[in-house]
Amino acid sequence: MNENAPASKQTNTDNRILYYSDQEAIERIYQILLKNARIPREYINCSFSNFDLSFMPENEPKVKALKEFALNYDKYFRKTNSPQSVLLYSRNNGVGKTHIAVATAKLLLYEMAKDIFNSNPYEYKRRGVILDRIKYKTPVFFMSEKKYIWCRKRYSSKNEDIIDYIEACEKAFLESEFIIYDDLFRARDTDFYFDELEGIIDIRYDSQKPMIFTTNVNIKTIDQLDPEINPFAERVGQGAYLLSRIEKMTKGYQFEFADYKDYRKEGIY
Ligand SMILES: Nc1ncnc2c1ncn2[C@@H]1O[C@H](COP(=O)(O)OP(=O)(O)OP(=O)(O)O)[C@@H](O)[C@H]1O
Ligand SMILES: [Mg+2]
Repeated sequence: MNENAPASKQTNTDNRILYYSDQEAIERIYQILLKNARIPREYINCSFSNFDLSFMPENEPKVKALKEFALNYDKYFRKTNSPQSVLLYSRNNGVGKTHIAVATAKLLLYEMAKDIFNSNPYEYKRRGVILDRIKYKTPVFFMSEKKYIWCRKRYSSKNEDIIDYIEACEKAFLESEFIIYDDLFRARDTDFYFDELEGIIDIRYDSQKPMIFTTNVNIKTIDQLDPEINPFAERVGQGAYLLSRIEKMTKGYQFEFADYKDYRKEGIY
């Protein structure tokens, strides 16, 4: 330390040794929550700022509405105790649904990290503080339906990674404030699958906990008898059961993304 420095500067330096800045402390909390969310590596850098809207003007208002949703979740939904879920649908692949779901999740997590920080700023600013109290918190959890069902079918295999994933999902269904449910109706069409899906939706619906779904299936069709329009026409009973709950959960926040090019094939990445 520079002893000739003015007293005020010395105090600042002392503070830097003892305390993180607000920003740094929030970032530390955020990084733990982000890790616990288990966002796949392929999507971890997805954000609103790196989502290119120039070639899809129709999707711009939807993307903006989702950003507003994440930024104001606390004010409009959490504090008023009326959880709101979201549905992102497009017919085609690669139009950015999962990208935007992850961007929304990350923004929600950052807002949550700020909340945690504000609950006890001096505790979280102290250097050397081990963040044990939030180490096991998972307010937002990302799950892929396909992976969940795949692992669920092999749960008895005693493979540690499979057991770990299923246990993390189960804990999240019960406790997490938000579940990002990626690729709804991808796993498809077996009794086992529908049983699992009904269970998950039931748990979340009954406990009034929100989800962000992405899907390539138009959920409006799943209670219809016509197999031309409903991929699950033989299961309209289950379809109607799911539809009534998902509709109620996502009302006002169902976004249909216009089909543009498949970014996976043509984008720069
Ligand atoms: N407008 C965009 N700007 C930047 N990157 C994009 C955009 N749209 C998609 N991507 C990128 O393209 C890839 C595919 O997008 P994503 O997985 O979000 O599509 P999707 O609609 O979920 O597709 P699927 O229906 O197959 O699940 C991702 O790496 C994503 O980051
Ligand atoms: Mg997707």
